[in-house]
Amino acid sequence: MIIAIDGPAASGKGTLAKRLAAHYGYRHLDTGVIYRAVAHALLTTGIDLNDEARAVQAALKLDPESFDNPALKSQAVGSAASVVSALPKVREALVTFQRQFAAGPPGAVLDGRDIGTVICPTADVKIYVVADPKIRARRRTLEARARGEEADEAVVLADILARDERDQNRAVAPLKQAPDAYLLDNSQLDIESGVRAAIDIVEAVRAGRQRV
Ligand code: DC
Repeated sequence: MIIAIDGPAASGKGTLAKRLAAHYGYRHLDTGVIYRAVAHALLTTGIDLNDEARAVQAALKLDPESFDNPALKSQAVGSAASVVSALPKVREALVTFQRQFAAGPPGAVLDGRDIGTVICPTADVKIYVVADPKIRARRRTLEARARGEEADEAVVLADILARDERDQNRAVAPLKQAPDAYLLDNSQLDIESGVRAAIDIVEAVRAGRQRV
């Protein structure tokens, strides 16, 4: 079974995807990390984020072992990832890796922006997670402070809105809800309730199938 979780920055989809994968014993891929790793490689070598050829080279050289690097979590790397992820050839270079991950046994949960629309359009369950931008900014600020980073909530909100705008309006694989995705509004849910709501969606889809 493939579960696709998409949604905007800081919507809580990452935690939700990780917890869903643990619940079902599936593997989990946070696809944002892949774009963050490409952006980080460019930032640390001083290459322009819009240099598509160099970005593709970085994408093809990605080492999944580096996905745990805590430097990838920063707000700055997230924004840079939003820029490099708009480059069509970078996205193309990363498709096969994501599809192979999704296809492996026993099942997988992938979270990102275009999983249900482009990477796994035939995923068994698709969930589109949203939350009010102000609530996302509040949560992101608290997370950054917990990591010891300085964070100004107004700046974080502006970054989130700019990122939404860029992710939703890029020409290739823009962020959008797939027509067959379930909408999960996470604004008023704590982590446990969000996970419960996602499991309920997966179970409803499974039950629906069994009846057919
Ligand atoms: O989910 P995140 O904050 O880690 O993602 C960082 C950026 O990467 C995001 O702003 C857009 C891009 N991204 C993407 O274009 N497609 C994905 N499947 C995942 C992330």
